[in-house]
Amino acid sequence: MKMLLANAEAWPGFDTTVDLLKQGGAGIDAMVSGIARVEREAKVRSVGYGGWPNMLGEMEFDAGVMDGTTRDVGAVGAVPATLPVSALAHEVMKHLPHVMLTGAGARRFASERGFALDEVLHPDSKRVWWERLQKEMSPEQLAAFPDIALAPLSNAITDPERVRDTTVFLGRDGGDNLGVVTSTSGWAWKYPGRLGDSPIPGAGFYADSRYGAAACTHTGEMTMRCGTSRSIVLALRLGHSLADAVELAVQELSELKTGFLAGVVIHAMDAKGNHQVVNYRCDDEIRYWYWDERMAAPELRVATAIQP
Ligand code: GLY
Repeated sequence: MKMLLANAEAWPGFDTTVDLLKQGGAGIDAMVSGIARVEREAKVRSVGYGGWPNMLGEMEFDAGVMDGTTRDVGAVGAVPATLPVSALAHEVMKHLPHVMLTGAGARRFASERGFALDEVLHPDSKRVWWERLQKEMSPEQLAAFPDIALAPLSNAITDPERVRDTTVFLGRDGGDNLGVVTSTSGWAWKYPGRLGDSPIPGAGFYADSRYGAAACTHTGEMTMRCGTSRSIVLALRLGHSLADAVELAVQELSELKTGFLAGVVIHAMDAKGNHQVVNYRCDDEIRYWYWDERMAAPELRVATAIQP
């Protein structure tokens, strides 16, 4: 059964991917095409052009692609001046012996593969970033910026209003191939060079067509510590139901007592056609998009909320 699951902010590209799946397109290609539309949509304020910069006011994008049938992975992290980075992650998967490129090397590879040098900082993101920074810095820091120590600002400037959101697409095509594609601009005002979980296979995403697929949004600092997406697919392999596999992953997250702790949203599907989306300790109601080939149209549904 063809299926597609994505976070609520996937709206600019969800129908594109559904249409391509309906036409018989390969899952990964269909999802990369859809997520590229999300990355270029300025109204989506967590991914691509509409996203938030790092502490220096520079955009650094993360993305990942996994083919659940071959378990091939392509990922990019902290990539400047490039859209769509999910397509760049796909290029890494197809054209290099590596799994992940970051920073300047990822940008160099983007040029080799024909990606333009894009202007990726939205004027509104630049304005909000600078206003926020000005509030936190002393006059001496402001005068010396950016030649100041950024680490002391790192905790103060954490902005829970600018969510650590991500766009995730999890799909199954007509050949029963499961796959996952992720993309994000990461945590607003992050320390330069910070990678979230979106490019980290096993943490922010994982797929194995025999068992299932999972992808996470929000606090990558937690899912990287727990290997959340891989935990879910491994639990499915060991015979657990989808509900039990997700519950186990939530339990592991809840066992974390130190470090930066906040909300995580888990999106998961199994190879039998079940899906589940769980909102672990996010204050807001979390929604997600779901479609399968029995449905006339995609539906925006509410995730199951779990508090610690
Ligand atoms: N989950 C997205 C991030 O941590 O950047």
